Amino acid sequence: MMENCILEIQEITKSFGGVTAVDRCSLKLTPGKIYGLIGPNGSGKTTLFNCITGLEPRDDGEIRYKGKRIDGLKPHQVARRGIGRTFQIIRVFPELTALENLLVVTWEPFDAAHRRAQELLRFVTLDRLQNEYAGNLSYGQQKLLEFARVLMTDPELILLDEPAAGVNRTLLNELLGAIRNLRAQGKTVFIVEHDMKVIMDLSEKIFVLNYGEKIAEGPPGLIQSDERVIEAYFGR
Ligand SMILES: Nc1ncnc2c1ncn2[C@@H]1O[C@H](COP(=O)(O)OP(=O)(O)OP(=O)(O)O)[C@@H](O)[C@H]1O
Ligand SMILES: [Mg+2]
Repeated sequence: MMENCILEIQEITKSFGGVTAVDRCSLKLTPGKIYGLIGPNGSGKTTLFNCITGLEPRDDGEIRYKGKRIDGLKPHQVARRGIGRTFQIIRVFPELTALENLLVVTWEPFDAAHRRAQELLRFVTLDRLQNEYAGNLSYGQQKLLEFARVLMTDPELILLDEPAAGVNRTLLNELLGAIRNLRAQGKTVFIVEHDMKVIMDLSEKIFVLNYGEKIAEGPPGLIQSDERVIEAYFGR
């Protein structure tokens, strides 16, 4: 039977010199769910996201989005197919306003883009700050802004690289609400996050990397008690 996959990664490998950052990693995402990607520092999480989004060409393996190969595409081509992502290190334009930060990424006509940008700023509770320079926003607000920006192009699959890191409690709740809201809209979300409570609460399924290899996958409850996972986190 054909499985309903939005993203299928088969045996992806990516090395940097002598370091195998991602090692024959395979995984499948079905639409409309929130997935987690965890693993110790340097285990290849960001590199896997970079391979999916075309930022780093993979050395080997295949990536399919809605059944079509996307490995080998450039980042803007991957974005056009419907995959959006945020970065571990904030990439907002500090000298542009919050609103302008959203408008620069869109390929829609201005009026529609403007409406959408304002809607999204409301969605992440930054509408009050739309004319503020992004550089003047708090760290957490900048993370919310980046999150809103990734939604400008209405992606169906959203990759979030440590969205909660450094975000205070109040803003964190806004963020978690917004992520759940995306799922309610039928979007697929794939999140890298070190905060175990956040990732366990949000995800329906979690994948675990260690030295670039997928060592476990399953629902949060099982992952928490998985021997290999505990070993990867505490055993070295
Ligand atoms: N551009 C690069 N050049 C050389 N080595 C790299 C590059 N990017 C990543 N690496 C190496 O690849 C491995 C995986 O790094 P990656 O950033 O993907 O890990 P991560 O799981 O995202 O870690 P963290 O939790 O700290 O963000 C590490 O050993 C890292 O040093
Ligand atoms: Mg990373």
